[in-house]
Amino acid sequence: MILYFSGTGNCLAVARQIAKFTNDQVMPLTEAVRQDLTSERRIGLIYPSYDFNMPPAVRNLVPQLKISTNAYIFIIITCGAQAGNSIWTIRRLLREKGIEMAYSHKIRVPDNSAIVFGRNPNDQKWKFERFSKRLDTIIADVQAEHKAHHYAWWSPLAWFMGTKRMEQWMLRTFRPAVNETKCIGCGICSGVCPMRNITITDREKPTATNVQLAAVGPHCTVCLACLHACPQQAIEVGAKSSVKAHQYRHPDIKLKDLSRPHPQLL
Ligand SMILES: Cc1cc2nc3c(=O)[nH]c(=O)nc-3n(C[C@H](O)[C@H](O)[C@H](O)COP(=O)(O)O)c2cc1C
Ligand code: SF4
Ligand code: SF4
Repeated sequence: MILYFSGTGNCLAVARQIAKFTNDQVMPLTEAVRQDLTSERRIGLIYPSYDFNMPPAVRNLVPQLKISTNAYIFIIITCGAQAGNSIWTIRRLLREKGIEMAYSHKIRVPDNSAIVFGRNPNDQKWKFERFSKRLDTIIADVQAEHKAHHYAWWSPLAWFMGTKRMEQWMLRTFRPAVNETKCIGCGICSGVCPMRNITITDREKPTATNVQLAAVGPHCTVCLACLHACPQQAIEVGAKSSVKAHQYRHPDIKLKDLSRPHPQLL
């Protein structure tokens, strides 16, 4: 069983590519927490690096997993450059459940947060050249159930960024907002939000063409899925809107792949 958390498809693409060779089932982490996975003898967990650590949602969901202490656990982190301290965080979270992870690695991919700083993640597709090579290594290792940790970087800055106070700052600073004049209420953002945190409501003052409006709720984990998927570029971070050419999704992943129904969480 391979579990993933993904906003723009990098982690889902990695999960699917590994599963093609290992014949594992692929499942969103948000769904997996509702299942009893104690009979699974191999569990992969694939998630992105956020601010040198784990996405807050992943940090909250991992303790809820029902998995066996005897399972072979492998962790793959996708990141623009640095996975930071997230490998230490997941090790601690699993140890608190009496589980020792067997294998960990990271893969560099286009940085989907670059859009917030006015940079184009689509300019980083050169990272896919190394991506395939790294993935081949990971697939061979996982198939053989190797025990190895290829990523053991630790930094005080990353530790600081992972503190609750900084996490709250990050969630406040990067939390998306809807530009009401641009939004057409199409619901795409609501469909791709892994946290089911966007609702589509009737406008208080409907216009001739726009009757509905998206509203971002309180459970945002800043995955930026909504910002990258909005066809109107109506999702803004820090009052800055996205540019169409900078909107990113992993090339193998379609919008409908990210638009599964997820349970309401947290
Ligand atoms: C809020 C946020 C913070 C991020 N922080 C980092 C980071 O500290 N280091 C890094 O290398 N990449 C960082 N990234 C980039 C993502 O880790 C990377 O693009 C990842 O592959 C996205 O996975 P997904 O497409 O499955 O959502 C960040 C992305 C977001 C949205
Ligand atoms: S995807 Fe964009 S236009 Fe569509 S409902 Fe969401 S914010 Fe509005
Ligand atoms: S509201 Fe947007 S950024 Fe926040 S969790 Fe949902 S899709 Fe991700």
